[in-house]
Amino acid sequence: MAVPEKVVTNEDLAQIVDTNDEWIVSRTGIHQRHIAGKDETTASLATKAAARAMAMTALEPPDIDLIIVSTSTPEHFFPATACLVQDALGAGRAGAFDLSAACTGFIYALNMAAQSIRSGSIRNAIVIGSETLSRMINWEDRTTCVLFGDGAGAIVLEASERPGGILSCVMRSDGSGGELLSIPAGGSRYPTTVETLQRKMHTIHMNGKEVYRFATHVMASATREAISRSGLRLSDISLIIPHQANLRIIEAAARGLKLPMDKFVVNIGNYGNTSTASIPIAMCEAVGAGRIRPGDNLVMVGFGGGLTWGALALQWVEPEKRARPALRRRRSILIWLAHLRSFFRRVYRRIEGVLWGGRERGTK
Ligand code: UT7
Repeated sequence: MAVPEKVVTNEDLAQIVDTNDEWIVSRTGIHQRHIAGKDETTASLATKAAARAMAMTALEPPDIDLIIVSTSTPEHFFPATACLVQDALGAGRAGAFDLSAACTGFIYALNMAAQSIRSGSIRNAIVIGSETLSRMINWEDRTTCVLFGDGAGAIVLEASERPGGILSCVMRSDGSGGELLSIPAGGSRYPTTVETLQRKMHTIHMNGKEVYRFATHVMASATREAISRSGLRLSDISLIIPHQANLRIIEAAARGLKLPMDKFVVNIGNYGNTSTASIPIAMCEAVGAGRIRPGDNLVMVGFGGGLTWGALALQWVEPEKRARPALRRRRSILIWLAHLRSFFRRVYRRIEGVLWGGRERGTK
């Protein structure tokens, strides 16, 4: 995982909008969030998270087959943020694309990658959830600006003969609720104009109450469905990793499933809602804290704009091979060399373009 260094507390926000720590904590459970500095972007956070995830395995950048970046705050419309990550890692053989399913995106992306591995078309994939939502927030709107934060989390999936991994997945959507949570302008429906900018249509617009109602309906049911499709029972699940949007939504899911809160990973207090990055960040923290061990059955469950929602049951499997220190050093060097590789590829493309241009003119 990777989060920006800069922390913004509720007290800090109370200096810029009419809010207070008591309201934010009691309504959401959020105490602080991490906000990207001017040189940090969705791609830079994603690259850091991906490199750290890769460091848990014996894979090197040239071994990577596929990179999926789930994000709602991509670096550009295109090229895909995943391609920037591919270049920054020096993953010369990898396919790369972005996936847009708002806060549910990481679950969708993990399932897509797992199915590609199962089909035999690839051997491994890096799946990343990365967001810089702070760039899309109306910092004058207290109903949204207190909720969101920036960050990235990543996981490496590899083909294996061992049992476990992704067991089942439920992916759902309901586009009739699209306007409940959106960034209305900047796309083909409302291209950027002076008016769209003045009306702040390029920032997050949300009907919080309706999204809350929808979330409390789907969290428990999607979890149950994913568990039943996996052939497990609720009692087999050691930990649930929910999307971190609001502590009260997680508590409602716990009540719906009749589970104690200690079965849920909760870190919203420190990060706010990082959209599609929230599940992988929570997962990384749970692994780091020793709450996830090989063989554990887990459920990831999320919901968000679209509307989308989903849940995924998995059995945690540790990497077959871990990198030895020499390999780790080699991999760091390779990632460092990726900058040079990228630079020389650009220079080469330019020279080739000039030579080709000359040759084409010569044939006329
Ligand atoms: O990743 C998925 C994305 N989003 C979500 O999951 C969000 C789901 N929704 C929620 O989490 C909650 O609806 C919110 C946290 C957004 C809002 O909580 P709420 O309990 O539904 O509050 P509310 O919208 O009903 O607002 C209650 C009051 C209002 O004042 P009045 O009209 O009762 O006088 C708001 O204007 O709280 C006011 N309010 C605030 N007060 C202080 C709204 N935002 C703030 C604020 N500070 N930041």
